[in-house]
Amino acid sequence: VADPSRPIGVFDSGVGGLTVLGALRAELPHERFVYLGDTARLPYGTKSAETVVRYALQAADALVERDVKALIVACNTASSVALRSLRERYGDLPVIGVVEPGADAAVAATRSGCIAVIGTEATVRGGAYQRAIAQRRPDATVIALACQLFVALAEEGWTHCEVARATAQRYLAPLFARDAALRHGATDQPVLGGTPADTLVLGCTHFPALRAVIREVVGDEVTIVDSAATTARAARALLRGRGLLRAEDAAPGATRPAPAALSFLATDGVGRFAAIGGRFLGREIGEREIELVEL
Ligand code: DGL
Repeated sequence: VADPSRPIGVFDSGVGGLTVLGALRAELPHERFVYLGDTARLPYGTKSAETVVRYALQAADALVERDVKALIVACNTASSVALRSLRERYGDLPVIGVVEPGADAAVAATRSGCIAVIGTEATVRGGAYQRAIAQRRPDATVIALACQLFVALAEEGWTHCEVARATAQRYLAPLFARDAALRHGATDQPVLGGTPADTLVLGCTHFPALRAVIREVVGDEVTIVDSAATTARAARALLRGRGLLRAEDAAPGATRPAPAALSFLATDGVGRFAAIGGRFLGREIGEREIELVEL
């Protein structure tokens, strides 16, 4: 039913997708959102594509049962491997992933056309970013690297400490070495030629939490992009196109949302979700706002 007052469903494997929810709230302040973090089964990024598809469909089913008017897949791993299955399953329901908006952001930011993408193992293996960037800019050189440990660090809230710094160094220093010879062996994929990438895509919704330590390693010259803001804009455009945008949000720059506009579901660890999630969302989350669900 084209009823704009219905909520928008958003899901991720954990709290990482709250970075996307934050951008969605800023873009669409009068919407209601239901966010599901599948914390019982995190990480998705180390699982097979079949398993991620199954988990994503179950997470989405729980949101569709709550009568959402659109689904935002705030997880690069699920967007990479499960988007088609989700769209097939729900027919007319708008389903928006983060990979295509992330590719838009990358192509808008790069000058040299040399783009590095970091994500989970499944995202890198699936190649969705590589394809999405090539579609938008066929002459781009893309190098993709799995940085799976960043997910655990972000979920643990260890985002600004020595451990985070050392991990970022280990993953990224070879990739961004000025000397091309040093870049060889940084990944099992072909390395970029003469220059390192000028743009780094945070191709996992957990990674913006580590932006500061990533910045320290890659230096000031590299543009760091994530898909949160571009996904929010894509969501606005799609909802508007379908007549599902709330009238108050039709013009950008509207007033702040009412606090009741968000509700949260988690499949495990409500206390942990509340404690860590607030940092990702940029506002505190009370335990009582979170409902424990089984998928
Ligand atoms: N935050 C998710 C992503 O964007 C997945 C992290 C994980 O569960 O491995 O890929």
